Amino acid sequence: MTVIIKVDPLNPEPWGVRFGARIIAGGGLVAFPTETVYGLGANALDGSAARRVFNAKGRPVDNPLIVHVSSFDGLRSVAEPPPWLLEPLRKFWPGPLTVVLPRKKVVPDEVTAGLDTVAVRMPAHPVALRLIDESRVPIAAPSANTSTKPSPTRAEHVVEDLWGKVDLVLDGGETFFGVESTILKVEDSRVTVIRPGPYTPEELSKLFPKLEVSIYARGVAADRPIAPGMKYKHYAPTKPLFMAADQSVLVQLSRELSMRGVNHVVLCSRETSAYIGAPTIVLGSRGDLYEVAKNLFHALRVFDRRTEPLGLVEPFNESGVGLAVMNRLRKACGGTVVKDADQVLREGGISGSTHPLSGSKARHQEIRA
Ligand code: TXA
Ligand code: MG
Repeated sequence: MTVIIKVDPLNPEPWGVRFGARIIAGGGLVAFPTETVYGLGANALDGSAARRVFNAKGRPVDNPLIVHVSSFDGLRSVAEPPPWLLEPLRKFWPGPLTVVLPRKKVVPDEVTAGLDTVAVRMPAHPVALRLIDESRVPIAAPSANTSTKPSPTRAEHVVEDLWGKVDLVLDGGETFFGVESTILKVEDSRVTVIRPGPYTPEELSKLFPKLEVSIYARGVAADRPIAPGMKYKHYAPTKPLFMAADQSVLVQLSRELSMRGVNHVVLCSRETSAYIGAPTIVLGSRGDLYEVAKNLFHALRVFDRRTEPLGLVEPFNESGVGLAVMNRLRKACGGTVVKDADQVLREGGISGSTHPLSGSKARHQEIRA
């Protein structure tokens, strides 16, 4: 059975948090909001509770979980951070940053997937922090979606995916950033971004001057993954989604598909949407990639529910948080970048008419959730 409790995200009702903490301490599962996406939480020191997380999500057991803490003592209880790391970490925590460090033995193999490292983060969200405090244990939490689905940015997404599989959903409304935390792998004095997120390489390198960015951070296919999760399918809609090579290709492609009678949806910026004749899902302004990040996963779910057999998506600038946006979008598209309509039809397995006057009836319409 799943219980849903609405909580005030800034000042959560203590009884709701206490109820959640009792479930965590008893080995159960609680979905809770963080500043990035909703997490599916369990006691990080309890191997069988962690196994329930993998079962609920349908997650491969070799893909380890992030351990959430509410203090630096909490960090030291599960990992061995090098002393030089603590000062820069204080600037970013609590916040959307995960660090991969040598683990302590108290963390069960189920959580770390048997690795000798553990991923740890201190979320900047009152509900998450109080839930950890009240539970008196660190909380292991992957994103609270079914494996391969877009991460949840609203409680309704959690309910869509995990109804009946999670004991409690703490509904704190929409999450703030909308993409998952930046993950840094720390090895001796080397610091590498292995998953881009809300903290950008530009910001991080101010405190980590020798910061490296993994070649996989862009989200192109990984043949030698450094985060175990990289080798799995992610954010995948149930029908084809194609990334256009650039904005003008997007406008041209959409026009050509409409001319050939192929219904489709276009996920794009507000600016580009003005040039599109087909239905659009507006992700935000091209000038505000944090807005695009925040709306991205919800937009993918809205796209999935539409009846059109395929979608096109606009590529965004990869600087700043754009790196995280493009990483998630490339994965949602399965890496395919398209240049012409024939390629879309071929790869989407769709036959369009070649008659120029057999135009699609779909007219421009902005789809709202
Ligand atoms: O923002 C977030 O990080 C959210 C919220 C709930 O905190 N959590 C999240 O967890 O995105 P998840 O499980 O969806 O993604 C965790 C990623 C996976 O790609 C996993 O492979 C990687 O972190 N990871 C976990 N432990 C690791 C380790 N020891 N070494 C390398 N990668 C690790
Ligand atoms: Mg995830």
